[in-house]
Amino acid sequence: MRLTRLAHSILGQHLQPGDLAIDATAGNGHDCCFLARQVGSTGRVFAFDIQRQALENTAQQLQKQGLAAQVQLIHHGHQQMRDKLPAGIQGKIRAAVFNLGYLPHGDKNTITTSATTLPALQQARELLCPEGVISVLAYRGHPGGEEEASAVERQLRELASGSLQLSRFESPGPVLLVLAARRHD
Ligand SMILES: C[S@@+](CC[C@H](N)C(=O)[O-])C[C@H]1O[C@@H](n2cnc3c(N)ncnc32)[C@H](O)[C@@H]1O
Repeated sequence: MRLTRLAHSILGQHLQPGDLAIDATAGNGHDCCFLARQVGSTGRVFAFDIQRQALENTAQQLQKQGLAAQVQLIHHGHQQMRDKLPAGIQGKIRAAVFNLGYLPHGDKNTITTSATTLPALQQARELLCPEGVISVLAYRGHPGGEEEASAVERQLRELASGSLQLSRFESPGPVLLVLAARRHD
């Protein structure tokens, strides 16, 4: 199974209608549409991207699929999520989704970097509810990708203490890292 599909399958086990979710890298809107469908019209997705083109692509996909009403598009870096999200949301986010690297079919020089991805992960952890999940798909084929993936994994291992555990899914291309509440079954 492709890791993008695996990520959605894991997230689907956590998300319910009415939930709040963060798409940290809106890109072309695939993850955003998935999250919007999962949380439904009673939930909300906050989707960040630094590129206007990415937000336009995402808005178009959401419109096409009738999902725009439950999504707020935010034209800021995910490292600002704490400041850009509505007050009182701390501890209420069910899922935060990071799909790192560059915008497919877009500008390959505008990429995520650990300088901003790591603070964003820390903030996402603080915003998460106890049953929440953080999913990170890290590509390693572009310059800087391997270093970012390693730095992200180190950070998630540190955040994994206590009730959250880290799962790692390897592929020849990207690696999928999922931080989620320990299961007791
Ligand atoms: C691999 S794409 C995301 C794919 C997307 N999730 C989808 O389903 O189509 C990575 C995106 O991260 C965005 N990005 C880069 N740095 C960012 C930052 N600091 N904050 C938010 N988005 C960023 C890029 O503009 C790009 O659109």
